[in-house]
Amino acid sequence: MSIQIPRGTQDILPGTVELWQHVEEKARAICKAYNYKEIRTPIFEHTELFLRGVGDTTDIVQKEMYTFNDRGERNLTLRPEGTASIVRSYVENKMFGNPNQPTKLYYIGPMFRYERPQAGRYRQFVQFGVEALGSNDPAIDAEVIALAMGMYQSLGLQKLKLVINSLGDNESRKAHRDALMDHFAPRIGEFCSDCQSRLEKNPLRILDCKKDRNHELMATAPSIVEYLNEESKVYYEKVQSYLTSMGIPFECDANLVRGLDYYNHTVFEIMSDAEGFGAITTLSGGGRYNGLVQEVGGPETPGIGFAMSIERLLLALQAEKVELPVEQSIDCFVVTLGEKAKDYSAKLLHDVRKVGLSAEKDYQDRKAKAQFKAADRYSAKFVAVLGDDELERGSINMKNMTTGEQEEISIDSFVSYLQERV
Ligand code: HAM
Repeated sequence: MSIQIPRGTQDILPGTVELWQHVEEKARAICKAYNYKEIRTPIFEHTELFLRGVGDTTDIVQKEMYTFNDRGERNLTLRPEGTASIVRSYVENKMFGNPNQPTKLYYIGPMFRYERPQAGRYRQFVQFGVEALGSNDPAIDAEVIALAMGMYQSLGLQKLKLVINSLGDNESRKAHRDALMDHFAPRIGEFCSDCQSRLEKNPLRILDCKKDRNHELMATAPSIVEYLNEESKVYYEKVQSYLTSMGIPFECDANLVRGLDYYNHTVFEIMSDAEGFGAITTLSGGGRYNGLVQEVGGPETPGIGFAMSIERLLLALQAEKVELPVEQSIDCFVVTLGEKAKDYSAKLLHDVRKVGLSAEKDYQDRKAKAQFKAADRYSAKFVAVLGDDELERGSINMKNMTTGEQEEISIDSFVSYLQERV
């Protein structure tokens, strides 16, 4: 039996990969505009990083990590997300000592989660994310949100919904946590075993439970907004006023809790409102994580970021029927007639490619007609026809496939002819 691709993973084939490249270019361009620099970290890390970073009560850590021992008995994990790795690298490379602060980083790369695969949910997926470390200014929260929204909008998505919430600072979170414990404790026996263990460790996680989401205590659970202290409230309002001044519409949702433990203050998600997008509508998520750098062994440093998967972004484009302007064509196809012309065409193509133009020829010993068909399939902008006779005369026939114009030119001017016209 032939070997198949692992469940929850995808091959990205030519024809589709151009969409990915286009999206990645957009991500790089927008990060340049916002002055975020690229960082590349390993695909696997010590498991301990994610236990501490993502949080050991989260679904990601408890159920979804690809964890293994290497031959040296080191316990390693394929990264399920980017933030913990970025923070580790920030601490390890003492980026907090750089004169330019905050440290603004972005990444594009594969992440791994052992989830139940479905449309928009994979076991290997590619996240584009940014992290801004070292600033407590609510303007940076708004900046990060604006960058995420801008990314989608620059690709032509319109049916977007931005939802924000504040989880407050430590004091507010503690007060809310106590209230949640009081609320759920008397009837915790009615909840799933996960929720029962969440009660002590992190009752906020109960609100995110998929199994118990319809339990009557969920709807009446104490909301974080009632527990935000003055400072947290002011911070949250400031983020909102920046968003308003940037003309970015948003909704406040006090029930928005994220699936990772490191958040405080601002959290947000961007959803697709497009019809037919499917069950999973969250395109991206992020928030502030002011304690994480310390948790990973660094100095007290605030941070905020988000991540989006390219897979869900492409699904949203599909749902909104947005066609990306991707270039599939080549500049020139050289059709050869005769042995001498065929031999010569190898050098001719080499010259064209050296100046950065794309060119192709036949390598299958095809007849002229089949070569023209191939040129068509490659959507060649120009088709050059070189026969042994032309070669003898030092000329070549050019056909502009857009205008239909044809002319015979000197073979010496072949490269410059294309350069001027493509
Ligand atoms: P997250 O909400 O776990 O947050 O994931 C962020 C985004 O990654 C999701 O909104 C979704 O686009 C994508 N994603 C997650 N799981 C899958 C999956 N199985 N298949 C396809 N796409 C998926 C984080 O990862 C945080 N690190 C975000 C962050 C950065 N917060 C602060 N900085």
